[in-house]
Amino acid sequence: YTITVDPRGAGTAIPDTMYGVFFEDINFAADGGLYGELVRNRSFEFLPVDNQAYTGLTAWTPVGTGGTATTVNDDARLNERNRTYLNLALSTVEGGGYGVTNSGWNTGFALKAGGRYDFSVWARTDAAAGTPLGVTLHDTSGAALAAPIAFTVRGNSWSKYTGTLTAWRDTDAGRLSVRAAGTGTLKLDMISLFPRDTFRNRANGLRRDLAEKIAALKPGFVRFPGGCLVNTNSHYGYDAASNYERSRSYQWKDTVGPVEERATNRNFWGYNQSYGLGYFEYFQFSEDIGAMPLPVVPALVTGCGQNRATNDEALLQRHIQDTLDLVEFANGPVSSTWGGLRARMGHPKPFGLTHVAVGNEENLPDQYFANFLRFRAAIEARYPTVTVVGNSGPDDTGATFDRLWALNREAGVDMVDEHYYNTPGWFLQNNARYDSYDRAGPKVFLGEFASQDNKLFNSLAEAHYMTGLERNADVVQMAAYAPLLANIDHVQWRPDLIWFDNDESWGTTSYQMQKLFMNNVGDRTVPSRFTGPVIQPRGITGAVGLSTWATAARYDDVQVTGTDGAVLFRDDFANGAGQWTSVEPRGAWSVVDGQYQQSDTAALDTLVKAGNITATDYDLTLKATKLSG
Ligand code: AHR
Repeated sequence: YTITVDPRGAGTAIPDTMYGVFFEDINFAADGGLYGELVRNRSFEFLPVDNQAYTGLTAWTPVGTGGTATTVNDDARLNERNRTYLNLALSTVEGGGYGVTNSGWNTGFALKAGGRYDFSVWARTDAAAGTPLGVTLHDTSGAALAAPIAFTVRGNSWSKYTGTLTAWRDTDAGRLSVRAAGTGTLKLDMISLFPRDTFRNRANGLRRDLAEKIAALKPGFVRFPGGCLVNTNSHYGYDAASNYERSRSYQWKDTVGPVEERATNRNFWGYNQSYGLGYFEYFQFSEDIGAMPLPVVPALVTGCGQNRATNDEALLQRHIQDTLDLVEFANGPVSSTWGGLRARMGHPKPFGLTHVAVGNEENLPDQYFANFLRFRAAIEARYPTVTVVGNSGPDDTGATFDRLWALNREAGVDMVDEHYYNTPGWFLQNNARYDSYDRAGPKVFLGEFASQDNKLFNSLAEAHYMTGLERNADVVQMAAYAPLLANIDHVQWRPDLIWFDNDESWGTTSYQMQKLFMNNVGDRTVPSRFTGPVIQPRGITGAVGLSTWATAARYDDVQVTGTDGAVLFRDDFANGAGQWTSVEPRGAWSVVDGQYQQSDTAALDTLVKAGNITATDYDLTLKATKLSG
């Protein structure tokens, strides 16, 4: 082989923001992940509408005698957005106590010997003399892990009580209990335990090891808060009058202000999201790690398997105004309404927002683009220096992609978001994807990409592909691997960049690869040429007959393996996500009675074709656990 390098040649300039991260609350990346809160379901808002497995007492267990514990949503609530609270009806005998224990995330509360943990709770009581409340950290056998703290709750209106617990020893299986004594009714809400030791020691901060792993990448930008999370379900916001609409799109105003006044919402990925990690925290984190913040706002056209566009003009106007308010929140003076809120939250200086992305993976190109143009016109009229980023739908090619690119090009959009998750073979074969992109057209923001597994080979394919991104850095100006984080016990999507449980985290080989590139972003590429035999990637092309799969049968643990036993694709459909996460077409799978149904046998053929499987490389076996049908 010969590699000819021309060090003096005019290479392509690479922007400092070339590589970044994409944070989405998928795989419990926020609550139970990057967000430092240790209590699960602290505000008792886990509801069956979020996930059928939930009750108001999810993660809580009643303890002691002399009482009943229920969750209540009535006029006594903490506030209109924090509607459900814990009601302890007490009839304890002297010396006894009754309350609830929280089991935390994964195996429990991860505590470090000597670590300080800030406890807080909102409470009210109807007992005239007040209600004693004890707080303990203990292990699963009940042995104390810290000196207890105690309060007397007084008065029948909500007040906040705070204290600090210092852990005696390391554990990853702690429990937090609150127990009351006496008689009467004690109401509790927002029971919180926060490590003092957060990233940059910020209050309401981020879990240190995860934030540090992200910071170590030296990301040029942080795209947030999603993904499918942003742009799906209803676009109506929180509405007390309609009794707390759940499952609405991610709307930034729900996520700012005091945490006890933030709404909670059903997450697109099938669980409750507290919004404790909200827009202020995203901006703060971006600033802390020296990355450009890049928020994504809903475009009022759904994507990600949902195909709905609003025809509600007032709603569209409200979302456009919300986006203008977002820029004011990030950049406005403290004298402005939203800049003032930013200042009250602790950041009088502007965050310096320069880009806003509108929408994510819409499948209705014309409806999406009509809305995009409305957002762009309003933003540019008020904030002419802000770049408004469009997108090209859910696929790397195809009719929607082509139509969206045509519309973006015609309208002179500055930057277009592309997403794709493909096989390693695809990445190896498509290094030249951007060589032919129109230099006069919109720039590309590769907002999500990954080769579909967490093996070294995938990371090598990504690295190979990224050399093509850099060679085309005059067009591809920003790129991010996706998704970023996954809690090992709550996985909706794989592969992911960083995995974690409640006390440990580890980067994948793709993490190391991204880190290598992101820590070594060059000023420009150096022209080079390779001569020698070209080795075709050991890929897979052609069809594999799967048409014997019965219509409407249900399967689990689907794998495609080669004769050498190597698993080429696998999906165990963990945790009820109901999506084929490793390969396209994802949308062909649906959930029936909590199980997975594939009613489109052609889709399975496509699935294997999409993997470019060639019988010359492997004889393939498709294995799955048949559930029924
Ligand atoms: O990264 C996971 C998901 O992939 C994102 O939410 C979505 O934009 C894409 O389909």
